[in-house]
Amino acid sequence: MSSKELKSPYEIMQSMVEILNAQYSTHKEKKAGIIQFYFSHKNQEWICYVKADENHLELCVGTADSPTVTLRCDFYHWLDLSSGKLNPVWGMITRKLKFEGQISFFKTLPKLGFNIDIKDKNDTHTDFEKNAVKNRKPPQSVIIINASPRSSNGYTKQFVSRFAEGIHEAGANVEEIYLSKLRIKTCTGCWHCWIKENGCIFDGKDDFYELFEKVNHADMIVYALPLYVDGMPSILKNYFDRSVRRVYPYICSDTKKMRHPRRVDRKNQTMVVFSICGFQDKTQFKALEAHFRAIAHNFHIPLIETIYRSGAMFLFNNPFSFKQQTEILENMKKAGTELILTGKINQKTKRKIEQKITDKKEFIKMTNYFWFDKITNQKDTNDY
Ligand SMILES: Cc1cc2nc3c(=O)[nH]c(=O)nc-3n(C[C@H](O)[C@H](O)[C@H](O)COP(=O)(O)O)c2cc1C
Repeated sequence: MSSKELKSPYEIMQSMVEILNAQYSTHKEKKAGIIQFYFSHKNQEWICYVKADENHLELCVGTADSPTVTLRCDFYHWLDLSSGKLNPVWGMITRKLKFEGQISFFKTLPKLGFNIDIKDKNDTHTDFEKNAVKNRKPPQSVIIINASPRSSNGYTKQFVSRFAEGIHEAGANVEEIYLSKLRIKTCTGCWHCWIKENGCIFDGKDDFYELFEKVNHADMIVYALPLYVDGMPSILKNYFDRSVRRVYPYICSDTKKMRHPRRVDRKNQTMVVFSICGFQDKTQFKALEAHFRAIAHNFHIPLIETIYRSGAMFLFNNPFSFKQQTEILENMKKAGTELILTGKINQKTKRKIEQKITDKKEFIKMTNYFWFDKITNQKDTNDY
């Protein structure tokens, strides 16, 4: 039977006994005897007993001769009792649990304890995370992950190149990486990277690990992406899936929203998001913003800035928005410089980048003309 299928009460009892046996050798109150169970579950009776001796517990199906103690109850009440949620006395008073024989014999079973020592992996919500701008050191190295599936042929690149120029002018090293040019296999969800010492099953077989190491060494990571179906393109989502090894599988969270402790020892790193989209209103980025805020929290990398440029295709394809296009690109460069020098983008610069380009009516008219022309004349998609 697969561990994912619904188990029967006998199978649940079997896994409980396995867990208890792991603790039994060090348990102080080991005694020989038998605990007989009569469980009712889904209009059926499940009869089994646990045989205890000095070394071992064994589950058997059926009735035992002269059990030391007998418990009759609904199987769910037994689960509540054994997990400590149901007090045995209260269980007897409410007649959920019916005991016969030597009740104290239950002490023969160790408490179902799962305590392990993972103190060295405690989650720390650092001062830097709480206020990355106040506690900042000017970043020396910046990586821009361009996640446009159209890589250098996309509009994302047009904005990002200016942003990178500004970063460079402020004195930081900047590298732009086109995610779609790398071979990154899809995460299979095998947990290999969390459990096995030799990491991900694809290490050495694709380009991810090299990128992962690069990202871990950068002071600032800029994610530049077009909006796809109200979120990130799948290549970027896969990059984040493959990045779960940044954190431990353990959970010892001291933050309100639970998360895993940091595994990659790279504090004082920051994250910036730059995204463009086709529709012209900024509200299109709402879901993406929420997703990135969650990623920033879960990966312990504060998100210090976001820039959202809606109507990107319109901006480049409408001759009447040339002036705005020029102003926006100039301000992308300015934003890059400000970000490195102050840790923030000036509100005025940001307003210029995110400015409204046209009204709704004009936007719809021009956009429909654009697509009609492409369809009618079967234009090559690389031309826009
Ligand atoms: C598959 C796909 C899904 C898209 N989904 C959205 C969307 O949900 N909202 C939106 O405003 N634009 C959407 N767009 C438009 C892109 O965000 C826009 O064309 C952007 O400028 C593309 O960037 P690029 O040229 O760098 O590839 C989508 C484009 C594609 C190809």
